[in-house]
Amino acid sequence: MAGLHNEFTKRTLKVEDMNPDPRHQFSRWLDDYIQLNLNDGIAVSLSTIDREGFPSSRTVYMRDCDEKGFIFYTNYNSNKGEEIKANNKASLLFFWPELERQVRVWGFVEKVEKEISDAYFQERSKGSQAGAWISNQSAEIATRETLENMHRAFLRNVGDKLIPRPDFWGGYRLVPIRFEFWQGRPSRLHDRFLYSSRGESWQIARLAP
Ligand SMILES: Cc1cc2nc3c(=O)[nH]c(=O)nc-3n(C[C@H](O)[C@H](O)[C@H](O)COP(=O)(O)O)c2cc1C
Repeated sequence: MAGLHNEFTKRTLKVEDMNPDPRHQFSRWLDDYIQLNLNDGIAVSLSTIDREGFPSSRTVYMRDCDEKGFIFYTNYNSNKGEEIKANNKASLLFFWPELERQVRVWGFVEKVEKEISDAYFQERSKGSQAGAWISNQSAEIATRETLENMHRAFLRNVGDKLIPRPDFWGGYRLVPIRFEFWQGRPSRLHDRFLYSSRGESWQIARLAP
């Protein structure tokens, strides 16, 4: 892998370019990423702490973000759901290699309002809705066939009826308290800015790369 060494040359980041509100700064970077038209969801690495104290990371799709925080959907009884129930401190990591950018976000996770989860669930395909019902996410299963049989049987039973959202599936919102924006630069002299929440405002610090 020796030849895979990257030099980052595309962009720079100056303190005067940074929006005083990291949520607005994030929206700007998200727009830049969406403009690339990669036609993919906004994947993000979500880290929680497991019951043995280990950090535990997995990818989820961020489905929305606003003034309040970052929303993703999952099974509330999954490992991540259990981990969030026991400790709602979590972090998100966005890596956008095409832009040579990384954003880290730390915060507290809460369940989104039921109506928000209901609305999102109804936007999904019947196949995905059935998948949410029949998959006891993170539990051990015997075979793939068991899963597919359950999925088929569920869809057969439901017919044309509307599939309601199961109570154990829905959205979480990570409410941010800290952000770090990273822009790759040549010679490993990257630009890094850390935002820490100070009541209503945010303090910005440049960090050594
Ligand atoms: C690109 C990508 C997107 C994913 N999006 C989601 C998602 O939005 N929600 C989800 O529950 N799992 C998603 N997954 C699967 C998770 O990474 C993970 O396997 C699953 O949620 C179980 O995690 P857990 O056992 O730690 O709870 C995604 C995986 C990938 C690779």
